[in-house]
Amino acid sequence: MFSQISTRQFSSSARNAYKVTVLGAAGGIGQPLSLLMKLNPKVTQLSLYDLRLGKGVATDLSHIPTNSTVTGYGPENDGLATALKGSDVVLIPAGVPRKPGMTRDDLFNTNASIVRDLAKAAAENCPNASLLIISNPVNSTVPIVSEVLKSKGVYNPKKLFGVTTLDVLRSSRFLSEVVGTNPANETVTVVGGHSGVTIVPLLSQTKHKDLPKEQYDALVHRIQFGGDEVVQAKDGAGSATLSMAQAGARMAGSVLKGLAGEADITEPTFIDSPLFKSEGVEFFSSRVTLGPEGVKEVHPLGTLSSVEEEMVATAKETLKKNIQKGIDFVKANP
Ligand code: NAD
Ligand code: LMR
Repeated sequence: MFSQISTRQFSSSARNAYKVTVLGAAGGIGQPLSLLMKLNPKVTQLSLYDLRLGKGVATDLSHIPTNSTVTGYGPENDGLATALKGSDVVLIPAGVPRKPGMTRDDLFNTNASIVRDLAKAAAENCPNASLLIISNPVNSTVPIVSEVLKSKGVYNPKKLFGVTTLDVLRSSRFLSEVVGTNPANETVTVVGGHSGVTIVPLLSQTKHKDLPKEQYDALVHRIQFGGDEVVQAKDGAGSATLSMAQAGARMAGSVLKGLAGEADITEPTFIDSPLFKSEGVEFFSSRVTLGPEGVKEVHPLGTLSSVEEEMVATAKETLKKNIQKGIDFVKANP
């Protein structure tokens, strides 16, 4: 009897025991993100891969007394494949960050091939994993991953996510600074994509829909270009890493809760979306409910102000080009 109960408990608790892999784990985002994943009780195997220092970061984190093993890998001895095998969730912050004066699109030439190659490895070694793409430009790297997965015959649009959560965190924080509230109580849905004008905060859906125009315009601009603030302040040493780690850990935590069957887990995220496909926009960020199979429901944008309607229209035009650039890259460089 006892052993039957334990067996049952073991198998149901397996729904709360996940292997999470971070690719680019020794970088500015990768290290704090890996730390936060080490603190997530749903993670029982944490697998860290980087071109350098993967093992060092893993050994360091492995001394923290939470219920997960941590293993680090480098490129030697087929480390990437071993790191990925059996993963439930793969976070990808590998690639170069911006310096002042650069756009995210300026990172395309370097990061496109990094993300393509990591996506190939994920397709071969963990075809059922949920893939969370952080590497910029997200508007193009997510389509790159989808093309790679399609070419390998393992594309599951329900399990590919562009991480736009940092825009959501910034919106809460910046809005709370303007209206003088606790950011923990300010939830803002951000839709579109992850760069400049493609970032569309739906402030009309918050409690603060009547901000004076000047304040509203400044807030929207700050949310859309919040990344630049950090790039300028770091003065050539990179872009957001710590706030991004928090954002990535929140998104991964929500994906894990969805996989575990928890109810009503919703995050805005950039996915292969039905919302504007008929207009040629294959990927779009909106609120998504997460479930055991990944994306469970894609929510429509809801009622928008006329200004937001215009911002969404502008975002769609830029997104179409960013998405096509990613698709064309994989076609030309399979
Ligand atoms: P970083 O240079 O500090 O770290 C990147 C890491 O990736 C390095 O450790 C590097 O060794 C590793 N790497 C490079 N090529 C690799 C490969 N082929 N396989 C495995 N690892 C590889 O950069 P960072 O500050 O951590 O930023 C990483 C990326 O995240 C950048 O592209 C940046 O623009 C992006 N980013 C996205 C968001 C977002 O909101 N989605 C926010 C911040 C930064
Ligand atoms: C951000 O929004 O902080 C990131 O996309 C990094 C960047 O280049 O701004």
